[in-house]
Amino acid sequence: MEEIIIRGGRRLEGKLRLQGSKNSSLPILAACVLADGVSVLHNCPVLTDVAAAVRILEHLGCTVTREGHTLTVDSRGVSCYTVPEDMMHEMRSSIVFLGAMLGRLGKAELCTPGGCEIGLRPIDLHLSSLRALGAQIEEQNACLHCVCREKLKGTVISLSFPSVGATENIMLAAVLAEGSTTILNAAREPEIDDLAAFLCACGAKVQICSGGAIRIEGVKKLHGAEHTVISDRIAALTYMAAAAACGGDVVLEQVQTAHFLSVNRVFEQAGCRVTATPGEVRIQSQGRLSAVRDIRTLPYPGFPTDAQAAVMAMLCTAKGTSVMVETIFENRFHHVHELNRMGARIRIEGRVAIIDGVASLTGTAVTAVDLRAGGALAVAGLAAKGETVLRGVHHIDRGYENIEACLRALCADMERSAVRGNRQQKFQPPVRQCGG
Ligand code: EPZ
Repeated sequence: MEEIIIRGGRRLEGKLRLQGSKNSSLPILAACVLADGVSVLHNCPVLTDVAAAVRILEHLGCTVTREGHTLTVDSRGVSCYTVPEDMMHEMRSSIVFLGAMLGRLGKAELCTPGGCEIGLRPIDLHLSSLRALGAQIEEQNACLHCVCREKLKGTVISLSFPSVGATENIMLAAVLAEGSTTILNAAREPEIDDLAAFLCACGAKVQICSGGAIRIEGVKKLHGAEHTVISDRIAALTYMAAAAACGGDVVLEQVQTAHFLSVNRVFEQAGCRVTATPGEVRIQSQGRLSAVRDIRTLPYPGFPTDAQAAVMAMLCTAKGTSVMVETIFENRFHHVHELNRMGARIRIEGRVAIIDGVASLTGTAVTAVDLRAGGALAVAGLAAKGETVLRGVHHIDRGYENIEACLRALCADMERSAVRGNRQQKFQPPVRQCGG
């Protein structure tokens, strides 16, 4: 088991090149199944979720090699149409392989991924949409038996909620279907645009229209393509929240700043100075932050639910009372209990979190129970007085590439240690010396 030891209270300064997007890499890796050829994906982050997606690809018959942040996927050998239960449960977003398998193979056998710490995560929109395209899907003992007696046929699908995963699954199933498909009320996250860009590079005809519609013209075959994955906007927002909470002057490089305009306003309302230039965002934070009232998570381009926890951690020591409303997931406040153990004063009323700012947090042993709660506890530990021992590191490694090295590059004093019994073995280089 590993822990991350954080000695808080330091300002964050310096430049950090941002990792590639987890939530873009995963559907694009699934899309490789559709291409009868070799695809080269650059800027793929080294994450356990990405490794899990690679294992599924290899199980389906692909050959995958990694060189640094570049993955090469040869999907000419795709033949298997089943995904074992353990692989489905290892990463719940593996449901996005369903659309790709139906598109390429015309059948799929896999288990429903089930819920997770943040919610039930139903897939009713995925299944109803794939059935509308002509897939016969039988649900038995939490397993999906899917078959297309003929080629999938394009149709108009209107989503009752702009589900990211359902939008991705429809896109993956529709690009090789007969005829055209229109998705109404589709998700508009940047990761959707990135998936569309990769599919078009493979020879698909996908058009992202204004007003949340996506039009797809089915083609006969897709070939491999070379693509660079967009940067991870949620990792960017997490590191910005850390800089805001600790005070400092941080530049994130290799970012698409347009992807997080809705959150920049929150940082500015809290008293930070945010400067966005092409490919870079700079955040400067002096002194105590001010509270921000009425932050409401919404589908893109609204405030992203994945940034809710980290921004909440940042606001724990702001002056005044902040209010955050989580409208996307029903159970996404697991970080609150641990933040309160560090001295925060947060009350939960249903989907509403009321954060009464305190002068400072105090480091202690805390445990992350989900990915973004882990990012939030790292932010809190960096801002806190004293030492924080952050456990549940495996959750963090799902979505943040080498979080301690990234933050150490910004002058944070943190290291990962393997805990064997009660003996800690530290294996990180010394902290970079920075300004006071
Ligand atoms: C994607 O999850 C992201 N994951 C999530 O990021 C992100 O929080 C979420 O989109 C919202 O932006 C990946 O891209 C791998 P949804 P997804 O379908 O596709 C309900 C992270 O931390 N819903 O847009 O599962 C659902 O219950 C992760 O990186 C249905 O009711 O999100 C939820 O309340 C966490 N029926 C809401 O929609 C369905 O069939 C949003 O879900 C599908 C979804």
